[in-house]
Amino acid sequence: MVKLFINGYGNIGRRLATYFSVDEEIELVGIAKYSADERAKEAISKGYRVFIPKTMENEFARKKLEFAGYIEDGISDSEMIIDAAKEGMGYENKLLLYVPMKKKAIFQGGEDRQGEYSVADMIHNSRVNYDKAAGKSYVMQGSCNVSGMGRIMQPLIEKFSDDILRYDVNLIRRWADLEDSKEVKDSIEWDSHPHHQDDVKDFIPDANLYVEAFKVPSRMMHLHQILIRFKDKSPLKDQVLELFQNEFGVAILNSAKGTLDVRKKALDLGFAHGDTNMVHIHESLIRSQDDVLKFSYSDDQTGMVIPENHLLVQSMIFKKPRNDALSHTDKIFDMRKKKEILQNEFK
Ligand SMILES: NC(=O)c1ccc[n+]([C@@H]2O[C@H](COP(=O)([O-])OP(=O)(O)OC[C@H]3O[C@@H](n4cnc5c(N)ncnc54)[C@H](OP(=O)(O)O)[C@@H]3O)[C@@H](O)[C@H]2O)c1
Repeated sequence: MVKLFINGYGNIGRRLATYFSVDEEIELVGIAKYSADERAKEAISKGYRVFIPKTMENEFARKKLEFAGYIEDGISDSEMIIDAAKEGMGYENKLLLYVPMKKKAIFQGGEDRQGEYSVADMIHNSRVNYDKAAGKSYVMQGSCNVSGMGRIMQPLIEKFSDDILRYDVNLIRRWADLEDSKEVKDSIEWDSHPHHQDDVKDFIPDANLYVEAFKVPSRMMHLHQILIRFKDKSPLKDQVLELFQNEFGVAILNSAKGTLDVRKKALDLGFAHGDTNMVHIHESLIRSQDDVLKFSYSDDQTGMVIPENHLLVQSMIFKKPRNDALSHTDKIFDMRKKKEILQNEFK
């Protein structure tokens, strides 16, 4: 059993806690909570040990929220930390807590991989470089979009390698998550320098990849439209379907009409947190013409990275072979079953 601490209990931290708390190879020491709010109450009611900053002691006591200790205590008692802080806070946590206390840590996709505030020397993508993370002390898990692109591009690279000339991805991003209280602005906003392109090139350095990102007023998943240019004739639709048929964390859906359909189905089916934890290729949008293959897949923003973090722990701590890690993650997340159910629902 490995002692694990989750630093941050927002959209990502809550989901990590749900799955790591039922993994018999892990002892979840606890979670860190920085605000004495409803989420703190939720964490306590779920039986997690909640650790807080010293400065919040009076506030937690005043609201009768029982805590197990200070954040430093939780970290000190653990071997491995998953940092699930608000984006940009991971670097400071590393500097002030994980390095001095000599703890291994995973950082999330909102952190920097390059420059002064870089948190790690690699970005993990379980489909591409799982083995490279084995035994490392600090690794950044790619964001949901970056994880999704790796999951789609790597099988194409393995099958068609030098026949591919370039990839262009139009990334249509949700404005906020389901649980976020922030307002969804009625606008389509673009990003002049999306981080996703550089992040993907961190683990697929040779990819001739160009990403444009647009944020739209929705809470229901991201959608990527990928256009792949080949040297000669592009593969046919059936070849694409066959290629992704057995891919872990990739479902092929036919009759879904939008991201809301998929999210609603996950909620109706009672999937934990309303997540599918995967990307969904939309069969009706696969186009192959001359030297261009174009298709679209939706990417479950909050769910995608949770099994990725789970796989990463198995590489960094247990140094498990990838196939063993995939079966263990499948057991905890029921990925294959969820995929089968979704594919049947959207036949
Ligand atoms: N949301 C997504 O769809 C998504 C997908 C992939 C990756 N990510 C990445 O995952 C990370 C977390 O995102 P999120 O959506 O979970 O954010 P979030 O919902 O805003 O939650 C952030 C959490 O950070 C906590 N926090 C505050 N100060 C902290 C500190 N110094 N150290 C650690 N935690 C601290 C907050 O605690 P209190 O609530 O107690 O104040 C809050 O629980 C970001 O890097 C993000 O880019 C997010």
